Amino acid sequence: MWWRDAVVYQVYLRSFADADGDGVGDLDGLRTRLDYLTALGVDGIWLNPCYPSPGADHGYDVADYTGIDTRYGGLPAFDRLLADAHARGLKVFMDLVPNHCSVEHPWFRAALAGDPAARERFIFRPDRDGDPPNNWLSVFGGPAWTRVGDAWYLHSFDPAQPDFNWRNPEVAAYFEDVLRFWFDRGVDGFRIDVVHMLFKHADLPDWPHHPEYNILAQNQPEVHEVLRRWRKLADARERTLVGEIWVPTVGDLALYLRPDELQQAFYFDLLVCPWDAARFRDSIDRGLEQVVSTGAVITWTLANHDVHRAVSRYGLVSRTGGPDTRPRGTVDVELGVRRARAAAMLVLALPGSVYLYQGEEAGLPEVMDLPDEARQDPTWFRSGRTEHGRDGCRVPLPWTAAGPSFGFSASAETWLPQPEWFGAFAIEEQMSRPESTWSLHRDALRMRPGFEGPLEWLPTGREDVLAFRRGDMVCVTVFGGEPYPVEHGTPVLASAEASAGAVAPGSTAWFRR
Ligand code: NOJ
Repeated sequence: MWWRDAVVYQVYLRSFADADGDGVGDLDGLRTRLDYLTALGVDGIWLNPCYPSPGADHGYDVADYTGIDTRYGGLPAFDRLLADAHARGLKVFMDLVPNHCSVEHPWFRAALAGDPAARERFIFRPDRDGDPPNNWLSVFGGPAWTRVGDAWYLHSFDPAQPDFNWRNPEVAAYFEDVLRFWFDRGVDGFRIDVVHMLFKHADLPDWPHHPEYNILAQNQPEVHEVLRRWRKLADARERTLVGEIWVPTVGDLALYLRPDELQQAFYFDLLVCPWDAARFRDSIDRGLEQVVSTGAVITWTLANHDVHRAVSRYGLVSRTGGPDTRPRGTVDVELGVRRARAAAMLVLALPGSVYLYQGEEAGLPEVMDLPDEARQDPTWFRSGRTEHGRDGCRVPLPWTAAGPSFGFSASAETWLPQPEWFGAFAIEEQMSRPESTWSLHRDALRMRPGFEGPLEWLPTGREDVLAFRRGDMVCVTVFGGEPYPVEHGTPVLASAEASAGAVAPGSTAWFRR
């Protein structure tokens, strides 16, 4: 079970590397950089959706579940990528989007054309005196319903992403075929989009408690039956499923990780923790008690393509708005980089698996100041241009300090504009500097297998310092501003330099006893 302690690298394909010079990342761009990933030392990659899609939500609106978008190179490029990744021992996860498809999907087109069987595969309801069938809101803002003729269809996200009716067995059978198709092609697993949303309350009643988490639109018990069937399919072929699941409590999350359901689910509880020792420890303990006690492992992650980059979250010195996953305000980048380095070393020492979002290994900050006219995230438009959305963590990567688009593409025009300061974070330049954030990640990935067995907290005598032991390795993180004198054995790696015998403020150090 390689995945139990694996480090998986998330590739937001459009922004990783562009081989054909159109300013949008593609599969050949990724393939030519696979050696980069093996140099970093990850075990596998998760690819954000690259199926044919009109791109209303950049691939999370799928028009064809068994194809690859020609803009990314089509199926031949995908097969080349898979073969080259496997030749290097890298696993490849795709992204399954089962809650909704694109308005361009043939089923939805047939539904709009009036085919009754096709309509049953989606959630159409009659008009309620001129109003939508209920008062649910879309995650991206505005109502969750769009009217066509005398009926409305449900879309938990953008109107271009109609929700499937998971109470229709045809939908379930379809997705089992999709899983088999990609498993047969050699895909090692799937990250599954918004698993908790597949089923809605059967009667679709109004949700009386706006704007809180709508428990009628998600986290319904029927989803677990689907996951049990998928797990059988995966187990028969030794494949892995990792869920994207946002539920109110860690106890709810643990239900999705029962031995016959998903092997993994991202632990967002820690991702949303502010830089605070007690909060980090509470979150880690909650996970260990409620997830690990069921026999599952925790899947740690500090960033992805939906949230602000870790540097900018941990470096936020005054907040002016935005949701907890994307807080806005003034960022002290130096402080943010320092803390993000420490946080990365902390999670890499914990028991379980870690997902690393592209660019985090270079300490890349969020691009907060994209020009408004460049923004593409539907969240920005659906919120009436009040919620800035997720474009700032999706800006194409800087590989080199100079050159057109900092080595991302032969073209200087990238699908989201890169800021001038991106060159200072150039990945290739960091690879040759031993003290860089990139080198720290590489070293940490190499040394991480030294941490073995369960976690045991060690007393530190300070509220702002966390220390734990796993086997003969010790991890110490100083959240506060004072160095921490320590005698925990031989130092093996540190996220910041300190005087001998101390761990520096805002840093993590590993020791061997
Ligand atoms: C979660 C994905 O991570 C996000 O990027 C997407 O917009 C929504 N699900 C809808 O598919």
